[in-house]
Amino acid sequence: MDRPKISIYIATSIDGYIARKDGGLDWLDRVGGFDEDYGFQKLLNSIDALIIGRKTYEVAATVPDPYPGKRVLVLSNSLNSVRKDMELFRGDLTQLASQLHSEGIKHIWIDGGVTISQFLDLQMVDFMTLSVIPVILGSGIPLFNPIGKEHACRLISSQSYPSGLVQLNYEMQRTEVFLNDK
Ligand SMILES: NC(=O)c1ccc[n+]([C@@H]2O[C@H](COP(=O)([O-])OP(=O)(O)OC[C@H]3O[C@@H](n4cnc5c(N)ncnc54)[C@H](OP(=O)(O)O)[C@@H]3O)[C@@H](O)[C@H]2O)c1
Repeated sequence: MDRPKISIYIATSIDGYIARKDGGLDWLDRVGGFDEDYGFQKLLNSIDALIIGRKTYEVAATVPDPYPGKRVLVLSNSLNSVRKDMELFRGDLTQLASQLHSEGIKHIWIDGGVTISQFLDLQMVDFMTLSVIPVILGSGIPLFNPIGKEHACRLISSQSYPSGLVQLNYEMQRTEVFLNDK
């Protein structure tokens, strides 16, 4: 593979939202305070870089050092610059992945709903960890946006926690069905 391994790690409501309509994340607090990080540190230890969408960046940028020691690339067509410890990228995501590969990056975490769906559409996602929060939000910013292909996912493991969070670990299968071929 001439690109790094690419993983999704994201929290979702039962009805598939990653934030309230106004971007609110207060509902994640339901699973906080259980002396449990749900594998977050393990994920951070395993990655070399993150690729995040502009909207996720706007939230992350409010924190002094959101991803310590990690290279962070921000996707945006509207921004002209990002904070100095991050890099702005616009362009071909396949090229970006192979460029990062040539620079020695081995594992990337991608974050943000729109961003995730673009990588899925390009068949560039290898692993996906979904942390399902025990709440139905009713509306919000969706985890998945429409894409042109169907992807089979192999469940590697699942774990439930005392907080009610259920974590699902999938490996993305390489077989695909083009939806408009059906
Ligand atoms: N629940 C969780 O675990 C979790 C995790 C992450 C984020 N969130 C929340 O989710 C919300 C953001 O998600 P989102 O789906 O709205 O957006 P997102 O993926 O974070 O950002 C979308 C933006 O990224 C830019 N972008 C994406 N692909 C691009 C490309 N190929 N080239 C250039 N720019 C590209 C565009 O920015 P421009 O418009 O500037 O061109 C686009 O509008 C935030 O509220 C965040 O807090 C929740």
